[in-house]
Amino acid sequence: MSHDTPVRWGILATGKIAHTFARDLHRTPGAELVAVGSRRLGSAEAFAAEHGGRPHGSYEELVADPDVDVVYIATPHAFHLDNARLAFEAGKHVLCEKPLTLSSAEAEEMVALARRHDRFLMEAMWTACHPTIAALRRRLAAGEFGTPRHFHAELGFVVTGDAGDRMFDPALGASALLDMGVYPLTVAHLLFGEAEATSALADTRSAPGGTYDTDVAIVARYPRGVLATLTASITSWSSRAAQIATDTGRIDLDDFHHPSRAVFTPKPAIADWTADEAPVEPVEIEPDGPLIGAGYGNEIAEVGRCLREGLRESPLVPHAQTLALLRQMDDVRRQVGVQFS
Ligand SMILES: NC(=O)c1ccc[n+]([C@@H]2O[C@H](COP(=O)([O-])OP(=O)(O)OC[C@H]3O[C@@H](n4cnc5c(N)ncnc54)[C@H](OP(=O)(O)O)[C@@H]3O)[C@@H](O)[C@H]2O)c1
Repeated sequence: MSHDTPVRWGILATGKIAHTFARDLHRTPGAELVAVGSRRLGSAEAFAAEHGGRPHGSYEELVADPDVDVVYIATPHAFHLDNARLAFEAGKHVLCEKPLTLSSAEAEEMVALARRHDRFLMEAMWTACHPTIAALRRRLAAGEFGTPRHFHAELGFVVTGDAGDRMFDPALGASALLDMGVYPLTVAHLLFGEAEATSALADTRSAPGGTYDTDVAIVARYPRGVLATLTASITSWSSRAAQIATDTGRIDLDDFHHPSRAVFTPKPAIADWTADEAPVEPVEIEPDGPLIGAGYGNEIAEVGRCLREGLRESPLVPHAQTLALLRQMDDVRRQVGVQFS
């Protein structure tokens, strides 16, 4: 693929995130929406009327479209592996929504399929492509904010919907851990490296077809003694913020999985805790480049960059990282007693 030809996208499924993604795709230089596939032609037509592209009434027809270079998979996680297999067998590259699969075993199978078919594969972990996260990673690694000691991140929303909604159906991969918990685990991994130990508790709910976690709290240890407390919830409104406490101050992130702001507040060492603290100026951590759309555009641009350079995985979301995080989530599920049948 030459450096000035647009990357031609096909969107597989027409649910909520597919619409958000399509809006950002139009804002991304060098990306073109050429097709959309749905289980029902009517859904694909309605989607195409809103966002453009050629509508297809099945996923099989979408992946067979000769104009599509890369397929974006936006189905519930339980179907990601089958959808990716379909795309690879049709010779397409794949960007697949998070979590890549339900388990690390499935993810290994997906990565093996990508390698066998010599195609690009990336989990759609937009957080890893976000310019503020990139700046934070770079500057933390350079020691600019001191030595990180503690990380806290919480991601919770009250999720409502009918009983058939994927968020409440174990057969579709319902799980606060898989839907939300993947973000604090990923950000911790991006900033501090692979977790050395995790310990988890969860609250669960029974539903036809199984039990799933609605709330999860994880304590984890990372290299160089960084300790993390991470929570995910589909039953409560948490702050969605994160803090990194270092030996020289604190970094605050709002909406930490796509931060609009990251601020470092330096703290002088306290010789006398009864003395008044000297006023300190918080320092804005500027992003490493522009945000494209809501941030999905940055992941779309990263896929385009990789395809133009002939890469088969992105250095921002390497397969090993996705697999490590899925292994951690397997382990958390084992600890809290949630299993997918
Ligand atoms: N990156 C992010 O910020 C973000 C945000 C939200 C969700 N996600 C991820 O994106 C994926 C989809 O989430 P969503 O919220 O968009 O889900 P959704 O609104 O329920 O849409 C899922 C779509 O998948 C297709 N599908 C295929 N088989 C299905 C089945 N048996 N039941 C229901 N839908 C089926 C349907 O499209 P057709 O009818 O057109 O075939 C449906 O519209 C999940 O893996 C989720 O974790 C990511």
